Amino acid sequence: MKTIVLLGISFSVLLGGTYPSLLYHGNCSTCHFETKSVSAPSIKLVRKHYMNAFPNRDKFVKYMSEWVYSPKKETSLMQGAIEKYELMPHLAYDKKTLEEIAGFIYDMKF
Ligand code: HEC
Repeated sequence: MKTIVLLGISFSVLLGGTYPSLLYHGNCSTCHFETKSVSAPSIKLVRKHYMNAFPNRDKFVKYMSEWVYSPKKETSLMQGAIEKYELMPHLAYDKKTLEEIAGFIYDMKF
């Protein structure tokens, strides 16, 4: 009985730790490389701009997920990147998924 409970806990910890990572790597890293800016600014650079504007995790997650949900030049924190690469295309993800991804980006270590 104890073993089953313990197994259940470690399984959900495992999922909690890898799910946002999978989301990020499946959906964003084709364009956003970790540290090199090629067809889009690196995620390190994007994170830096957002960190400067929103040191608070909740605000960071809220702004980033809303922006990615509906990318607009007017609300961009990276005007220079739009001129260089053009506005990021709209991706069909729901807000909840984007919040998970934004939280993962906030927690990223380089
Ligand atoms: C098809 C390529 C592509 C994909 C896929 C992509 N991006 Fe981007 N993204 C870009 C480009 C190009 C820019 C720079 C221009 C801009 O800011 O709009 C950008 C900019 C951004 C910015 C900065 C926005 C600002 O303030 O200007 C954020 C945040 C971002 N991307 C997050 C994400 C996340 C999260 C994902 C995955 C869910 C993702 N991107 C997937 C191309 C992409």
